[in-house]
This record gives sequence, structure tokens and C-alpha cells, in this order.
Amino acid sequence: MGRGRYPARLEVSPPPPDVAARYLLIWPGHEIYTRPEDFPPISSPGLFGDDRPLEIDIGCATGELACALAAARPEANYLGVDISLKPLYRAVEVAADRGLPNLRFLQIDMLLAYRHIPARSLRAAYVHFPAPLLRNRQRKQRLISPALLTHMQRALAPGGTFSFITDQEDLSTELLRLLPAAPSLRLRTPAEYEIAFSDLLKSHYYRRWEAKGRSILRVELENARAEGNHNRSVSHETGSCNEGAV
Ligand SMILES: C[S@@+](CC[C@H](N)C(=O)[O-])C[C@H]1O[C@@H](n2cnc3c(N)ncnc32)[C@H](O)[C@@H]1O
Repeated sequence: MGRGRYPARLEVSPPPPDVAARYLLIWPGHEIYTRPEDFPPISSPGLFGDDRPLEIDIGCATGELACALAAARPEANYLGVDISLKPLYRAVEVAADRGLPNLRFLQIDMLLAYRHIPARSLRAAYVHFPAPLLRNRQRKQRLISPALLTHMQRALAPGGTFSFITDQEDLSTELLRLLPAAPSLRLRTPAEYEIAFSDLLKSHYYRRWEAKGRSILRVELENARAEGNHNRSVSHETGSCNEGAV
């Protein structure tokens, strides 16, 4: 099976209407682009009607991480976002089977959704195993981009976490290369990681690339805790993603 074929090969059906109404949001790209005021903010008040901390899994596929975190941390809300609907059907099925009240899934191209996230509204954002999109003409579709870091700086609460995991060295290198343009994001050391190494992190892709003997690369960033605190614990020259250090 090729790198990106797994979600497309899933055998899933749309959820029943009551389950979809509870767990699944579908925001057509052209509508959010032309009529953004018709959509609620991507925040706990906007999507869950409460004030719990919100964490977002960008490119969540079948929602393994979002479901695991929502079950393990009921004091927070979780939103899984994917551009593709089919894997979200599976994610919704799992969320409904587990009766998770603090979880929603949203189908949207995340590149169109960033501006719907209010400032300082996220406790954490996860981008794990994004598609590499190595061809030049695919660059604009990449999740790892200057726009991602700009929005993370703005959308993460003080002390909030951005977690990135990949098996693609060029993607982690690219993220670190872009980091100086987002001065409020500090590179955490492995000892500071919010989620220590555990099966919680091991999605289909994690298990797959690990079984093939590929290095798993992890980068975790923290948004500045105080206004104007632009301290960085690791300089870009010496900072590296932490190969195999999960
Ligand atoms: C390789 S899967 C990784 C799934 C999951 N994060 C994991 O760790 O197992 C990448 C996912 O990102 C989604 N994706 C790609 N570009 C996206 C975008 N612009 N917005 C939202 N999701 C996107 C794909 O549809 C796919 O499901």
C-alpha cells in the first residue's frame, strides 16, 4: 500500500444522522471562503458551548489520537480536522461507540480554517505524520508552512503546545528552518514533552513506519507564557529535532 492510500481504502459508511449531528461537522471550502461569518469560531464556546481547554488534531485521519486523548483527558475538548471525509466516518464511529462527549470532527482543508481559530484559544495542536507532498507544485498544500507557525503563535494559549511527529526528515528540517519567523514558539526538550512516549501516540502511521524501521522524528514547541517573552531555550543552530527520542 502506498504512503497515502490507507484512508482512501477504508471501508466505511456515513454515520446515522443523529451520530453525525453530534460528532461531525462538514464545512465546504468555498462556503467558508466566501461566507466565513456563517461558521462558528473554532473554539470551545463555538463548537462545544463551554469553556474547557481546546486541543486540535490537524490531519487526524481516523481520529486515533483525538479519541485516545478525549478519553484520557475528559477535562478538555478535542477537535479532529481532516480534509478527507472517509477517515472521519471511521473516527466518528469510534467516538460514538465510546460515547465521548468532548470530541468533534471537522471536515475542512485546514489551510482555510486557521483564520477561524480565535487568538489564544488552543491548549494544544497536533500535526502528526502529515503527508510529505514532496513535489514542488504541492508546496502550497503542505501543512508545514510559514502560515502554520504564524497561526500557531496567534492561536495557542500562553504555554500552549504544538506537537509534530513525522518519519520525513525534510519535513522536520523545514519546520525548524521556519521557526525563527515565529519567535514566541520555543523548542521544548524531550524532558518537557507534554505527552511522554506511550501507546497513546501510536497511530496507524506511527506503528507502520516504526515497524518498517524508519526513524520517528519529534518536534514539540511551546508558545510564550508571557506577553513579549521571546526567550528560546535552544538556538536554531544547535536545535535539532529529536531523532528517535519519543
Ligand atoms: C498520513 S495521515 C496522518 C494521520 C494521523 N495524523 C496519524 O498520525 O496517524 C495525513 C492526514 O492529513 C490529512 N490532510 C492532508 N492535508 C490536509 C489539510 N490541508 N487539512 C486537513 N487535513 C489534511 C489527510 O487527509 C490525511 O488523513
